[in-house]
Amino acid sequence: MAVKYVPEPFRIKMVETIHMLSREEREEAIRKAHYNLFGLKGEDCYIDLLTDSGTNAMSAAQWGGIMQGDEAYAGASSYYRLVEAGKDIFGFEYIQPVHQGRAAEKVLFPLLLGPGKFAISNMFFDTTRAHVELAGARAIDCVVEEAKNPSKRAPFKGNMDVEKLESLIRERGAENIGLVVMTVTNNSAGGQPVSLENMRQVAAVCKKYGIPLDIDAARFAENAYFVKRDEEACRDMSIKEIIREMFACADLFTMSAKKDGIVNMGGLIGVKDGDSPLILKIRANCISFEGFYTYGGLAGRDLEAIAIGLYEAIEEDYLAYRIGQMEYLASRLDDAGIAYQSPVGGHGVFVDAAAMFPQIPYYEFPGQVLAVELYKEAGIRACDIGSYMLGNDPDTGKQLHADFEFTRLAIPRRVYTQAHLDIIAEALIAVRDRAAEIGHGYRITWEPPVLRHFQAHLEPITD
Ligand code: F0G
Repeated sequence: MAVKYVPEPFRIKMVETIHMLSREEREEAIRKAHYNLFGLKGEDCYIDLLTDSGTNAMSAAQWGGIMQGDEAYAGASSYYRLVEAGKDIFGFEYIQPVHQGRAAEKVLFPLLLGPGKFAISNMFFDTTRAHVELAGARAIDCVVEEAKNPSKRAPFKGNMDVEKLESLIRERGAENIGLVVMTVTNNSAGGQPVSLENMRQVAAVCKKYGIPLDIDAARFAENAYFVKRDEEACRDMSIKEIIREMFACADLFTMSAKKDGIVNMGGLIGVKDGDSPLILKIRANCISFEGFYTYGGLAGRDLEAIAIGLYEAIEEDYLAYRIGQMEYLASRLDDAGIAYQSPVGGHGVFVDAAAMFPQIPYYEFPGQVLAVELYKEAGIRACDIGSYMLGNDPDTGKQLHADFEFTRLAIPRRVYTQAHLDIIAEALIAVRDRAAEIGHGYRITWEPPVLRHFQAHLEPITD
């Protein structure tokens, strides 16, 4: 039985029309897009679950803030408001706006990483991995084993494997580990949370070996909600107290504000120690790549919207509704016997495409197969989080075999209703019912060297 849908703690003031193309039009659109969902026009997607990043609906308060944005080149009041919000929520002394998460990575990572160095994470998201590699270093994932088993229900499947972390540090030499990155929630493992206890253990290991610890904080609020819900010791803490405790473990954070900032554009870098020599270097890189350090590639109005959105994201009734949407959709899949990374994570349902298409090997990209079929079925746009996204080994050029083959249904914040979620569930069931008829996956006919999944061309493999 589907769980009860948690009602929206808001009402709707502004709407956008959406419509569905005919089946023939959808098949033509995806063929023209070279079977790459990123190549589709947004207006050709009926329900767009490509990402929860920058696709959020802003509140009346945020739109009001947009009108108040101070567009001074240097020292805008909106900058100071954002800095105050960042300091208050995260407890860090230095807050640097940037235009999005990967800009934070581009500004910070080369200061800590270079050739011969390694960065270790519970799991790197694709752009984060790319920026480690662009800095000349190598990225190593170190997630707990249970994350790799989608059907195993366990709390905090986003956690770092602490023992493995320590043995990796010993193996490679502490002096060669430039950075440890804790991704909260763990996007690539299915939006799975990281516990406060795990965060503390990882911080202790980093401290022991003198390695800086960075939180990749894109979904910090959703993570805190899971901690409050599932970590016994944190049940009576407020969401903000949990966030403060999590961040107190780290030295740095890099953040895409396009997720839990509930905005359409923005990012942050945080440095806990306001006297850190890194700050001047961050400012220098920011001025070169992003713009003056008081606007960081954003308009004053964007800074204002983030300052407001950060507070809206940590409201408990909002988070109960937000996570409730995932639980509702996941429970509909439970009823239908469709496997996904369970328990469901914070920003979407990650359907186990390898389980749905056991006949399709990883190098024919089952996650991509399901994404294309969902589009053909009902105009739903999702994306592969599997071997197609992972790409090739940067040293050997060989296709990597991902730990899982997911099709991610990422749910934008405050955008879709219960009826939309029902349509998504029904489309998935329809694809599952004909899954055995799909004999083959895709081959790549063209790919760029970095972050290939955004642009690659694919073609269906036929007998
Ligand atoms: N870190 C994580 C954990 C992310 O999920 C993302 C983006 C980034 C960093 C980079 O941030 O997009 O603002 O430059 N994730 C999006 C997604 C794109 O669809 O999951 P960005």
